[in-house]
Amino acid sequence: MTTPTSGHTARYRPGDVDIAEDGRMFSNVFLRNFPPLLIAVNRFLAGRSGPVLEIGCGTGQHAASFALAFPDLDWWPSDLDQMHRASANAWQAFLRAPARPALDVDGATPWADQPAITDLGPLAAVFVSNVTHIAPFEVTRGILRGAAARLATDGILLIYGPFIVDGDFQGAGNERFDQNLRADNPEWGLRDTVDIDAAAREVGLHLADQVAMPANNRLLAFKRV
Ligand SMILES: C[S@@+](CC[C@H](N)C(=O)[O-])C[C@H]1O[C@@H](n2cnc3c(N)ncnc32)[C@H](O)[C@@H]1O
Repeated sequence: MTTPTSGHTARYRPGDVDIAEDGRMFSNVFLRNFPPLLIAVNRFLAGRSGPVLEIGCGTGQHAASFALAFPDLDWWPSDLDQMHRASANAWQAFLRAPARPALDVDGATPWADQPAITDLGPLAAVFVSNVTHIAPFEVTRGILRGAAARLATDGILLIYGPFIVDGDFQGAGNERFDQNLRADNPEWGLRDTVDIDAAAREVGLHLADQVAMPANNRLLAFKRV
């Protein structure tokens, strides 16, 4: 899957990705990244139950796969893009995962107040993959704010993707990626864990743990302070 290189938000479009007749979109990095991500996520989600909200689900392959891997969790995908929501729904049907129709959530908005979200009750977790670098920092702030409002007391926010870790790019490839993103949209770019932690603390969360992942990615885990 190639990522669109312009616009305020990154949305996969016909021509950018393969799309099956039933609406399923295919990420070309999902198969490579999902197995180690599942192992890492399991460290934080094993033994939990209840609703999980995924923000910026894209193709929906993570959502349907995690739903099958964690049957005690109710995994709700969401995205601001209608085609992505349709893809997430189609992946649930294709993989015979529980049907949890993808929700219309824009991370930059006060999404935590939407009835579709409050109806879910306290969230066991919020999961975000590959969104923070490809959207303005306001989206990260909005995700943190909403997660702080809707997570259960012991809930967890997991954010996966490429990050700058304490000022360090974690590889020349990530630094080039950051430059390309910023050239396309000055509001995009890899986020520094220091900045995300600072924004998290403003809303009562903090970066409690992090796991180094293949391809110079990270899984960040936020809990209440
Ligand atoms: C690079 S894709 C990642 C998709 C998927 N999470 C993954 O890891 O394969 C970025 C996703 O973020 C979504 N997105 C961008 N801005 C957003 C926003 N403000 N609120 C919610 N989703 C957003 C896009 O629609 C797209 O699905």
